[in-house]
Amino acid sequence: MRESLEKHDGFAHNRARWDWASTADYAYLISGASTLEQSDRSGWIDACRVADSCPGYRDATILEWGSGSGRVTQYLCRMFRRTHAVDIAGGMLSLIAERRLPDLTLHQTDGAGLAPGIVVDVVYSYLCWMHNRKEDLPAILRTCRSILKPTGKLLFQLPVYDEPREPQAFSDVACWTPREFLDLADETGFSVARMTASAGAFAMDAVGANHFELHEWRPRSDSPPRPNGDACGTGTSP
Ligand SMILES: C[S@@+](CC[C@H](N)C(=O)[O-])C[C@H]1O[C@@H](n2cnc3c(N)ncnc32)[C@H](O)[C@@H]1O
Repeated sequence: MRESLEKHDGFAHNRARWDWASTADYAYLISGASTLEQSDRSGWIDACRVADSCPGYRDATILEWGSGSGRVTQYLCRMFRRTHAVDIAGGMLSLIAERRLPDLTLHQTDGAGLAPGIVVDVVYSYLCWMHNRKEDLPAILRTCRSILKPTGKLLFQLPVYDEPREPQAFSDVACWTPREFLDLADETGFSVARMTASAGAFAMDAVGANHFELHEWRPRSDSPPRPNGDACGTGTSP
């Protein structure tokens, strides 16, 4: 996989590369862990951070966007009443299916769309959207807005730094400035309840203090959700 020579050209690029990753050393490619066991253990900490931000999570429904092999999903589906796991790569969804998890529905997205009929209390996304081109984020976020209950919340990781950045390949990182981040919330129908920004510019060998923290957005009542699929395309449930 000579990704350094290839330009990131959007969702098709992500699907092909993450499908390939699902057949390679996916624990390392997903979380940097050296073993699957270590990767799975790290998912417990991430799931607890989600639950900490969701009082009443036992009765709540959650959708995880970009669930990968189920590192975090395996715990979410035992904490929340019902869990939806969405990924662009069929190979990743096959890995989750092999885990035979309870109260879980799998969905494959074309990158920004979902099949109609999903309504949830929480949308969660971790280590996913930063691997997409920045121009592709509004469509994804509008879909998230359309499936959230009015009282719901969006909890997600996205790198916010003083310097903007575009990803060059599927495992590279996009960065938003605080201004870009606030504008993104505004244009997609959210208000920002928590923004976790890092100072300076992103560098692979000097990741910012808040790089892995969760932002929290709420649906804005003055901005009605756009119909699901307004975001370029649909998803399917395998
Ligand atoms: C680095 S992995 C993270 C997986 C998981 N969130 C975790 O923390 O273990 C990124 C995942 O996001 C998925 N992905 C990338 N772009 C996506 C998109 N636009 N929609 C859905 N999934 C996407 C990839 O297929 C991959 O499974």
